[in-house]
Amino acid sequence: MLSSLFSKESTVGIDIGSSFIKAVEVTPTTQGWEVAAAAVEPCPRETMKDGVITNVHEVAAAIRGLLREAGIRATGAICGISGSQVIVRQVQFPKMTEAVLRKSIKYEASKYVSSSIEDSVVEFEIIGDAEEPGQMNVWLVAAPREMIDSRVAVLESAGLEPLAIDVEAFALIRSVVELSSSDRYLHETVALVDMGASHTDVNVVSRGEFALTRNIPIAGDSFTNAIKNLTGASFDESEQMKLEMARQCPLDELDSGDSECRSWRVVQPLIDELIREIRRSINFYHSQFPEGHTEAFVGKVILTGGSARMLGMDRYMSSKLGIPTEVARLFEDSAISIEKLSPDFLDKHRPVLAIGAGLAIKELIADVKQKAA
Ligand SMILES: Nc1ncnc2c1ncn2[C@@H]1O[C@H](COP(=O)(O)OP(=O)(O)OP(=O)(O)O)[C@@H](O)[C@H]1O
Ligand SMILES: [Mg+2]
Repeated sequence: MLSSLFSKESTVGIDIGSSFIKAVEVTPTTQGWEVAAAAVEPCPRETMKDGVITNVHEVAAAIRGLLREAGIRATGAICGISGSQVIVRQVQFPKMTEAVLRKSIKYEASKYVSSSIEDSVVEFEIIGDAEEPGQMNVWLVAAPREMIDSRVAVLESAGLEPLAIDVEAFALIRSVVELSSSDRYLHETVALVDMGASHTDVNVVSRGEFALTRNIPIAGDSFTNAIKNLTGASFDESEQMKLEMARQCPLDELDSGDSECRSWRVVQPLIDELIREIRRSINFYHSQFPEGHTEAFVGKVILTGGSARMLGMDRYMSSKLGIPTEVARLFEDSAISIEKLSPDFLDKHRPVLAIGAGLAIKELIADVKQKAA
């Protein structure tokens, strides 16, 4: 009874990026789920360091403003974490109960965490039996305690009730793969690449299951800083120049020669370096399988995040990587209704809403899975 009451409540996913805060409210209706409201607003500058929110007050105030403006009334909120300090690994353990595993997980995590394990939050999920008899596979997640605590504090200070703090990669899989009504993801391996401002995340998803995540410190801010160094303009001016450049000269048309955008000359090598890093991540995934294994073959790259909005990025990456690449057509072919969002808003923000939407449905999906079990 309690769970059916709970499932009628809206939840809001709050994706606090270093550059923009995204909020997506999802409501269960008799027809299914619906995005009741969504909003994207700049994140106050200098309020985050290495994924830790250093100015809780200012970020909470920005979230409050954003909720008010978008008319978001849900109070249950889910926030995400990502970045090089968030460790997500598949590890093997001898078969044991969850309670026993909980006792040994910290020791295992200490092998991967560079700072003190006492300053980390460690979580896990048993995936199932490993190939080796008597062993099981486990997802291990570890993150600096400050990263989690600062998010809980921000949500509470914004008047929200923190329901969960989730890994952004998991949220992305939920909104792009699990929400898709087509079953194409159940048969292939894809790379979900989120290109934000401070970093790019590469997440490999094989037959609908999360397989690997890697963090690359090249993204939108790197491009803006390159223009800033070239021109001597301020960061904000350089950001405007970047957006203008990306609008006027599509990236995939640069190689044809006569680009008039001087700034591309400093940004293009960074994009090439980023693409080489994405290739390395895919090769690393590949190397875990025996020769010719079909699961090892990454058949598609799907882009999300603000920097994926650069004109021609999909076609450029496709030709450099040799893998078909597309910008996520979030909410298309999807089990979620978006009638309440205006076409203009969607046109502008669709690929940046992926993590927020995935966060918003975390508890709703868990509820559905629980009922189906
Ligand atoms: N049309 C566009 N062309 C080029 N870059 C764009 C465009 N729109 C947004 N961006 C860039 O996308 C970035 C913001 O994307 P996003 O909101 O995904 O980042 P974020 O989540 O705040 O950052 P992070 O997750 O890395 O902390 C900025 O660097 C911005 O300049
Ligand atoms: Mg982001």
